[in-house]
Amino acid sequence: MSSLYKIAILPGDAIGPEIMAQAVRVFGVIEAHRDLSFELTEAPFGAAAYFAEGKAFPERTKAICDAADAILKGPVGLSFEESQKIPLAEQPERGAILPLRARYNTFANFRPVCLSRGMAHFSPLKPTIIKDGIDILLIRELVGGLYFGKKERGTDTAGKRYVHELLEYTEDQVRQVLLVAFEQARQRKQRLHNIHKSNVLMSSVLWNEVLDEVHRDYQDVEVIPLLVDAAATALCLNPGQFDVMVMENMFGDILSDQCGGILGSLGLMPSACVGPEKAYYEPSHGSAPDIAGKNIANPYAMIGSVAMMLEMSFAMNKEAKLVWDAMQGVFADGYSTPDLAASSDAMQVVSTEEFGDRVITRLDAALAEASA
Ligand code: NAD
Ligand code: IPM
Ligand code: MN
Repeated sequence: MSSLYKIAILPGDAIGPEIMAQAVRVFGVIEAHRDLSFELTEAPFGAAAYFAEGKAFPERTKAICDAADAILKGPVGLSFEESQKIPLAEQPERGAILPLRARYNTFANFRPVCLSRGMAHFSPLKPTIIKDGIDILLIRELVGGLYFGKKERGTDTAGKRYVHELLEYTEDQVRQVLLVAFEQARQRKQRLHNIHKSNVLMSSVLWNEVLDEVHRDYQDVEVIPLLVDAAATALCLNPGQFDVMVMENMFGDILSDQCGGILGSLGLMPSACVGPEKAYYEPSHGSAPDIAGKNIANPYAMIGSVAMMLEMSFAMNKEAKLVWDAMQGVFADGYSTPDLAASSDAMQVVSTEEFGDRVITRLDAALAEASA
């Protein structure tokens, strides 16, 4: 009997449905060449869900996600002005993304920062800095810290407004993500950059203590501590020094977007959000309301998130590699969406859909050749 993989599809908002339409085509091509099936079930999520059903993460979407082997999520969110039309608790970030992460305890967020040699010219950094490309794995803790800590707003006796927002971590929460990072470092170059701020934050002091304990079982891995502010500079001046980087939630949010800038576009940042039982996959970038509806968004991160799912949830390493190769082949042929076109006069600008067409044509040919 051939295998069946159940996937929940959450298209999301703004450019979400546009890039998701290209990403899901990958499943169809693989099915056509392999003795397996993907069962895709689409469900509303984010602002679209709120306007249609009154909830950013409706109960029926939760049930579809619960029943799925893996979840593919498009970006959600609206422009700042449009967001104000939704009550705070149902805005897609608070009402959908964070509850999704909490529901499946997706504590380990894998954000690969990669430019192959043929894509090196996409970076705004000088060729002398980028050299043959970039290959960093940023691991971000995803269910703790400030984003999930207790929050309180109030007014003091003098009538002044105040806010308390707690940065909370337990040692177990810290240990579980560090274990993932050490394992990745062991499998890669045995080098782990620990990004922290222990000169100020007690949370970083605890983080570093736990790191020392975990390190005892990973003596083959060299740990290089780096303060987060210095890391921001080092990423621009010498990204080649990094292999695996690990950090808490907010540091990872900010530095991963900086990494998108170093690559040349946020559209080049896929991700995997991994929990003990389930993982979901999404681009690291947002819903880009400024370019929505124009068929110009870069679908690379969304399609790359499918490649990460194939490898990490379904152990389809060969198929995943063919997806990356197909996308890089399209760039090598000289085609890109407009976000990357400024990097070279020789690039021909294509739409979201045409980029998808070209990836699918290449993937189809590669899969046919691989099974011949
Ligand atoms: P953004 O990542 O959506 O966009 C920042 C810039 O990058 C914009 O100029 C945009 O056009 C560009 N960009 C992003 N992805 C692109 C792509 N695939 N192709 C080409 N260009 C791309 O960040 P923002 O504008 O700050 O946020 C917009 C909304 O997205 C907000 O509501 C925010 O909360 C939400 N958001 C959602 C997620 C998520 O779903 N995981 C992540 C980040 C932000
Ligand atoms: C990301 C996003 C989210 C985060 C928001 C939209 C909740 O910026 O995935 O990087 O802050 O984690
Ligand atoms: Mn972010």
